[in-house]
Amino acid sequence: MVPHSTNLSSSTVPDTEPNLYVLYGTETGNSKKLASDASAAADRAGLHARVLGLDQLQAQELTKVRHAILVVSTTGEGEMPYNAVDFWDALGADDFPRIEQLRYGMLALGESVYDHFCAAGIALDERLAKLGATRLVDRVDCDYDFETHAATWLDEAIGVFAESIQADGSAGSEAVSVSSSHEGGRPRHTAHIAAKRVLTRGKTEREVVHYTIALDTPGADAAPFDWQPGDSLNLFYGNDPALAHDILNRLRLRADDVPHGTDKSLGELLTGHLELRALSRELVQEAAAQDVGDELQHMLAQSTPEVFEAWRESHDLLQVLIEHPEIRFDAERLVSLLRPLQPRAYSIASSPLRDPASIDLSARTVRYRHGLRTYHGVVSGGLSQRASAGDPIEVQHLATPSFRLPDDPATDIVMVGAGVGVAPFRAFLQHRAARGDRGRSWLLHGIRNPSEDELYADEFAAWRHDGLLFSYDVCASRVLDGRRYVQHRMAERGRELFGYLDEGAVLYVCGDARRMAKDVRCALRAIATDVLGSAARGESFVEGLQAGRRYRQDVY
Ligand SMILES: Cc1cc2nc3c(=O)[nH]c(=O)nc-3n(C[C@H](O)[C@H](O)[C@H](O)COP(=O)(O)OP(=O)(O)OC[C@H]3O[C@@H](n4cnc5c(N)ncnc54)[C@H](O)[C@@H]3O)c2cc1C
Ligand SMILES: NC(=O)c1ccc[n+]([C@@H]2O[C@H](COP(=O)([O-])OP(=O)(O)OC[C@H]3O[C@@H](n4cnc5c(N)ncnc54)[C@H](OP(=O)(O)O)[C@@H]3O)[C@@H](O)[C@H]2O)c1
Ligand SMILES: Cc1cc2nc3c(=O)[nH]c(=O)nc-3n(C[C@H](O)[C@H](O)[C@H](O)COP(=O)(O)O)c2cc1C
Repeated sequence: MVPHSTNLSSSTVPDTEPNLYVLYGTETGNSKKLASDASAAADRAGLHARVLGLDQLQAQELTKVRHAILVVSTTGEGEMPYNAVDFWDALGADDFPRIEQLRYGMLALGESVYDHFCAAGIALDERLAKLGATRLVDRVDCDYDFETHAATWLDEAIGVFAESIQADGSAGSEAVSVSSSHEGGRPRHTAHIAAKRVLTRGKTEREVVHYTIALDTPGADAAPFDWQPGDSLNLFYGNDPALAHDILNRLRLRADDVPHGTDKSLGELLTGHLELRALSRELVQEAAAQDVGDELQHMLAQSTPEVFEAWRESHDLLQVLIEHPEIRFDAERLVSLLRPLQPRAYSIASSPLRDPASIDLSARTVRYRHGLRTYHGVVSGGLSQRASAGDPIEVQHLATPSFRLPDDPATDIVMVGAGVGVAPFRAFLQHRAARGDRGRSWLLHGIRNPSEDELYADEFAAWRHDGLLFSYDVCASRVLDGRRYVQHRMAERGRELFGYLDEGAVLYVCGDARRMAKDVRCALRAIATDVLGSAARGESFVEGLQAGRRYRQDVY
């Protein structure tokens, strides 16, 4: 293998046309960041790389590309990320031309807590191979700890690509047309906060807040986008200015400095544009190099990815600077090491049939103590602390076709949600009430304690009373008479639940992906095993529900 520092002679590198395309499909920015890392590594290796979002390149243009690295994440239930949808649709055409000149490598991003691990990257990889393209390096499917695996893969891949491009000699890629010099991305819309009220009682660290977001509409009764119950809304909200100020003070940097290569002051960048919570591994590595106690070095060297991820979960930038006051970054380095600030998603908790221009959300406020400090979640904490009714806010619509109500209004549904996972079910029920759906609806909601964190209980009780809800089970986990989770109630009513599903009901699960969603699936398998008499039949029943799209999840 050619080491990635290989420099190609200038004759093999045309001045203008790139000899390597780095294409990314992303939903939340990780793939884009890796694509830019890949491009930087390629440039260091003497290649001429160009980074493009998959929405910037017509799929047909692939016929002109000779070398490409693709970095593609998966979203929804095994779906293409937003900026790759059109590209994927075009690539799937029966008459799509052969692309035998293309040599490529696929880095797939995903998380194994999801059922369809890296499904989008896998599907694209297989489709490219089917169209005659050659895999120059094997695909790697990266989990939540993608940074280490991705860096190793990219390091190797760039070497292999450098060798192939060199062997190609003067045969560079033809000029490709780029749809737009700026990637389109998911459209942003202006809105304002129309209402804000706390739904929970008691402990503030368990607060859930109900927000009504009024969309700025192009005209009366017209929403700027079509949305459905089951969809989510991305909210953009800046970092706490006091947090940005504290960080700059600790780094001895001035808020009004404009770092080289940017047109904004450090203060503006840290409050409105850069992520101070989820740190890049690169930043942690640079911090570790300056850490006098070697604690960070030790953690990076010794740790498994799980240990690193657990450390990262509990450390934002300020926490690192509090624990390691000797660490310094200059303005330019700080800006280059921080990730772009991302919006956060919230399940829509209302129906467009109530009002297409107004959207309800319920957000659990992330707020916890760490030593002497109280951490406030960027968006949920920022909104809870600083936002008031009337404030403007930018939003994006996240359509979730895999989590919609059944088309047939007579279909029965079972909705299982823990905590704020109940939010989309309020939207479902509003919608069913407005449409007069005849299908039966059964809701199981997991909470800690009815005196603290019941959400929308009055509305659900009213729907139960009216008959829209045929059953409403609240499962409380922190009450004196025992710890009950949603799956315990499912097990208690196992035969009834089985019968319901066996007759065609659709099951919806929303909330925590890491524990609740897995346990619910186990419970369902156990119920089916019990009724059907064997584990194999139980598993095949659950698989049948999934294959028939009657087991739908929106978990995070
Ligand atoms: C499709 C989708 C739908 C969603 N729907 C909803 C919804 O309806 N309602 C809702 O509330 N959320 C929902 N979420 C989650 C939401 O998007 C945000 O992730 C959440 O609100 C946290 O964002 P934040 O900016 O407030 O917190 P951040 O600043 O991002 O902080 C969160 C981080 O803080 C850390 N952390 C949190 N608690 C602790 C603790 N006790 N100790 C130590 N560290 C801790 C963890 O590292 C965690 O990742 C959804 C997510 C997705 C993907
Ligand atoms: N990715 C993110 O940033 C993010 C942000 C917000 C929420 N979430 C996830 O979304 C979930 C819902 O949010 P929330 O804060 O509203 O939930 P929550 O209040 O923490 O949990 C709701 C209920 O679920 C119970 N529960 C815990 N483990 C369970 C399991 N394995 N199976 C079934 N029920 C279980 C809890 O019980 P006990 O607490 O008594 O054990 C509680 O009664 C959370 O679990 C959280 O992990 C993720
Ligand atoms: C709502 C949601 C749905 C997801 N669905 C899947 C999935 O079905 N399969 C998977 O492997 N990963 C899934 N993921 C994980 C992402 O692919 C992973 O976080 C990835 O790093 C995101 O990369 P991106 O920022 O480039 O989009 C999902 C993540 C979210 C937030």
